[in-house]
Amino acid sequence: MPNIQIKSYQEYEEAYKRSVEDPEGFWSDIASTFTWRKKWNTTLEWNFEEPNVKWFKGGRLNITENCLDRHLKTRGNKLALIWEPNDPKERFVRYTYRELHEKVCQFANVLKKNGAKKGDRICIYMPMIPELAFAVLACARIGAIHSVVFAGFSAVAMADRINDAQCSMVLTSDGLNRGAKQIPVKRVVDEALERCDSVKKVIVVERLGWAVNMVDGRDVWYHDEVQGVSKDCPAEEMDAEDMLFILYTSGSTGKPKGVVHTCGGYMVYAQYSFSNVFQVQENDIYWCTADIGWITGHTYLLYGPLLSGSTSLMFEGVPTFPDMGRFWQVVDKFGVNIFYTAPTAIRSLMGGDIDDVLSYSLDSLKVLGSVGEPINEEAWHWYHTHVGKERCPLVDTWWQTETGGIMISTIASITPMKPSHAALPLPGIQPILVDAEGKEITDNEVEGYLCMKFPWPSIIRTTYGDHERARLSYFSTYKGLYFTGDGAKRDKDGLYRIIGRVDDVINVSGHRFGTAEIEEAINHNSHVVESAVVGYPHDVKGQGIYAFVICKDVPEREDYLRAEIIETVVEKIGKIAKPDKIQIVNGLPKTRSGKIMRRILRKVAEGDTSNLGDTSTLLDPDVVDEIKAGAL
Ligand code: PRX
Repeated sequence: MPNIQIKSYQEYEEAYKRSVEDPEGFWSDIASTFTWRKKWNTTLEWNFEEPNVKWFKGGRLNITENCLDRHLKTRGNKLALIWEPNDPKERFVRYTYRELHEKVCQFANVLKKNGAKKGDRICIYMPMIPELAFAVLACARIGAIHSVVFAGFSAVAMADRINDAQCSMVLTSDGLNRGAKQIPVKRVVDEALERCDSVKKVIVVERLGWAVNMVDGRDVWYHDEVQGVSKDCPAEEMDAEDMLFILYTSGSTGKPKGVVHTCGGYMVYAQYSFSNVFQVQENDIYWCTADIGWITGHTYLLYGPLLSGSTSLMFEGVPTFPDMGRFWQVVDKFGVNIFYTAPTAIRSLMGGDIDDVLSYSLDSLKVLGSVGEPINEEAWHWYHTHVGKERCPLVDTWWQTETGGIMISTIASITPMKPSHAALPLPGIQPILVDAEGKEITDNEVEGYLCMKFPWPSIIRTTYGDHERARLSYFSTYKGLYFTGDGAKRDKDGLYRIIGRVDDVINVSGHRFGTAEIEEAINHNSHVVESAVVGYPHDVKGQGIYAFVICKDVPEREDYLRAEIIETVVEKIGKIAKPDKIQIVNGLPKTRSGKIMRRILRKVAEGDTSNLGDTSTLLDPDVVDEIKAGAL
């Protein structure tokens, strides 16, 4: 393991101090531990006005040489990836670094054979099977830009993302397993591609052995294409600031935006943060339960662990199949040492029988992690006590698709840990809290808007095809700062506690949706005139989706109408964005200028209508009484 790991609190303090006083020297030393084809000329060039951020300018590299090739001499026979299938009766599969290198090279050669080249955008819509990992790394190997779309998104959502990035290829599978269900994936791709002109090739991996429609000249089977293909594929030389990937995420307005990360900075920060936060040791078995379709899967299932030469476990299934003990059974089966999951998974398992956890030993566990949404104290204590046996540090890692890697988190056993607190920033990260005017709040025991005042290597570079959108979304709210969209508290000791989004983004089971995006989907239903969506506290999902909907014709059976509206959302976005509650209303609380007062709707959704605040500026205050009376 290259020597980038902090070993004590004193080392943390020293690293933090240096990273602020001499950020270029600090990151330059860390970057020097990687394999570069050519060293960079300038460590950092930046301004947050345009914004323009460039790390390691002039440096040349390929991230897969750092993930794979550089380990072959010393770790060629070490396990890189363990794949556990959905059904425990099916056998798991393991790949050493040497085997993974071959698989990635072969996949890369299949991509090339089918016309892919450097700079092409390739959409990956695949379940959690080993080929998904090969596919992502194969794109990086040949310099193609991967755009992974989580396989739970609908055909319409996939088509929007393909069109935005003008992808030339789609990598997919015949179908997928999800608990007891099997889902036809290729059919969703076919439907999406009816709306896309840019896609010339579709490569299909067989998972279920289902007969699927194959379009002549466009669709090919991976198992046919890989026959006789070389197991060697020289890596394309990339510039440090060349795009590595695009990952779509929701903002408070409009369609999801394509967050762009680049090769050099993302690589450096992925490994640095992974190695430090989890304090990974050479022989650890590490398991991140996130799907590769989200940023957590990109950085902490794939890139971070492989860059570090670690053993990463990839799980196809769900926490509740075939029973509520599945996670813990997998931990015992492979002797997992580091386990990283989302609060929503913990909360769903807390609801089960405690013996589902206590009947497993879980002795191998050393470190636990949490990501994606605030972890409430009850879930924190359950996780720490019953899974970690009060022996394992629990790191609550705060970060975002846009930050590329963990920003604020306890470093396991090194920096302070406090329930429901992300705690301290990692070296190189300079958070500040500001008030509504953007003025820095310097005291402790305060609350404010969370911003960053200095760039880190894996900061978002742009939003694909629309740089102005990146500026407006992140760099224009508070001058000279990156604005996260989150509110946070800082306690008397300077530890951060993230409260959650302060914009119109809701976080459902750790997945981000813009309220505008869900409203737009709902409004597609032919009965609907207008809608307003807000989040509300939900015991398992963190936040649930509450929709207030005005309809032009309400049929006798309101439940049919509700089912139809849900169907529309599933079609436009996917099952993951299904509203939990739909209240049919005659009007929405609007100001005289026509703006919906969401504050009131949020209160109604939370079930707290005792104090709705000032409603005198509303166009029609009676609307509020009707909404209160019909609240679900
Ligand atoms: O609100 C914060 C919440 O998730 C948002 C980022 O979502 P996404 O880009 O999908 O990335 C999720 C995985 C990194 C943040 O703005 N969030 C993420 N982690 C935490 C969190 N909120 C509280 N505590 C966390 N540990």
